Amino acid sequence: LTVKSTNIQEVDHLLNATTRAWRNGHHGAVIWFTGLSGAGKSTLAMRAEQRLFQRGFQTYVLDGDNVRHGLNADLGFTPDDRTENIRRVGEVASLFANAGLIVITSFISPYRADRERVRKAAGAAFHEIHIKADLAVCEQRDPKGLYRKARAGEIAEFTGISAPYEPPENPQLVVDTSRHNIEECLEQIMRYVESTIALR
Ligand code: PPS
Repeated sequence: LTVKSTNIQEVDHLLNATTRAWRNGHHGAVIWFTGLSGAGKSTLAMRAEQRLFQRGFQTYVLDGDNVRHGLNADLGFTPDDRTENIRRVGEVASLFANAGLIVITSFISPYRADRERVRKAAGAAFHEIHIKADLAVCEQRDPKGLYRKARAGEIAEFTGISAPYEPPENPQLVVDTSRHNIEECLEQIMRYVESTIALR
């Protein structure tokens, strides 16, 4: 993306990430969930947010269905729109992480290149977590009835059915929701956060 404005100059903050992290008791972070619809991203994101909050951490979830009602209300599900969706969310998540928060993003984010772009923007603060369940399992769960609609041809470009999903090649963590229950998955995520993001 090229910057359109001219005559703009970036200004420096007088606080740095270390200073903020020291007071918050944890680093700022972007915990990027990726996975198929129905894999369990939203459920785990909301539970992790609650548990991190109880632990005294500053945290916030950005979720696909929610963000698409506001910031990204102008976007649909074409490849270009999904890319723009992820670009904007990546920018917002990076700003939140700079502010010191542990941001959990819950988006299908089907394209590897889009996720890698966010990783570049967020740097060391980026943690990719694959919320993994086979298509057959997601389709069987079908919590919103979307797979049924997609199979019936009522939803175009549905991820896993008529649009691609590119799984991460080197995620920081894989959480297999078809083999472990919600609590076990949550504990796996919390252990990861405690060992890499928490400072006390
Ligand atoms: S993306 O691909 O990252 O831009 O998608 P995301 O912003 O996460 O939005 C996914 C949710 O939108 C609903 N939905 C669809 N998903 C995939 N493909 C199509 N065509 C589609 N249409 C609507 C669906 O409820 C997704 O929610 P989750 O929580 O993933 O099930």
